[in-house]
Amino acid sequence: MLVHIGSIINKKTVGKYAVPAFNTQDLETCEAIARAGEAQRAPLIMQTSVGALEYAGVEELVGLMRTVARKSKAPIALHQDHCHDFNLLKKLVNLGYSSVMIDASHLPYQENLKLTKAVVHYAHKRGVWVQAELGRILGSEDWQNVKSGQDLMTDPIDAAKFVAETRIDTLAVAVGSMHGIPVNPKIKKVLSTLKEHIDLKRLRAIHEKVKIPLVLHGASGVPDTQMRAAIRLGVAIFNIDTDLRVAFNKALRQNLKKHPEIYDPRKLLRPAADALQQEAEKKIKLLKANGKFIHLERK
Ligand code: 13P
Repeated sequence: MLVHIGSIINKKTVGKYAVPAFNTQDLETCEAIARAGEAQRAPLIMQTSVGALEYAGVEELVGLMRTVARKSKAPIALHQDHCHDFNLLKKLVNLGYSSVMIDASHLPYQENLKLTKAVVHYAHKRGVWVQAELGRILGSEDWQNVKSGQDLMTDPIDAAKFVAETRIDTLAVAVGSMHGIPVNPKIKKVLSTLKEHIDLKRLRAIHEKVKIPLVLHGASGVPDTQMRAAIRLGVAIFNIDTDLRVAFNKALRQNLKKHPEIYDPRKLLRPAADALQQEAEKKIKLLKANGKFIHLERK
């Protein structure tokens, strides 16, 4: 069923379990994610990047997501991931997303504040949640020129001020995770000099000062123990994309190699989607979101 994000993330859930926000861009991914939610009786978030909307078309992809979510037994909320474009966010709010992310983290603090406040004003009037980012969550290839990961991370005091002034509903924190998987050897070397993947001390300090649910982006590749610790420290949503893509691509490549005679794309795509579903189910269990239909039904 298509639900509002506020019905799957609230004070009762934060600290106990977390909801995965899986990126989607096509029919196979949408359906595999929904099947994973049903199989594990888990609430989840289906989210789009700007790139996915450009790839599939806004109306096309949103229509697909809404249909898949509505028909699913799993409670599914729609969210827009990193977006700088206020006009696109307005469109998505009016197309039925219950949460959108305005990412103005590349701008100076005051400008980030101003744009975020404007989006909150627009979205809250229409009952939609807003996520914003403070600090910079980098892509894996952006680490080349980074001397110290700490410089880019969310400052707990700034975060408390930012949340109070903007009245956002969820905060994306920069605490060491990154989008994607580093392939460049130089970047791998920089990253190996950083002691921990996630700066749990910083996350604790943010959690003590910020009382809204926190979001961890770049959750692919984060060690399981750190994921579990992050849940206890207020992370209510984990954004996961790369690990699902890797599972899909691995199965697709294997199948292409094993069955060069197949020419029906459906016979190649379905096993790949099944592999993506299995990976999504693993993540749901790691976040302890499995079986949480019951929790929601009793609320
Ligand atoms: P990964 O691709 O590293 O899982 O990150 C996804 C993400 O954070 C989307 O915002």
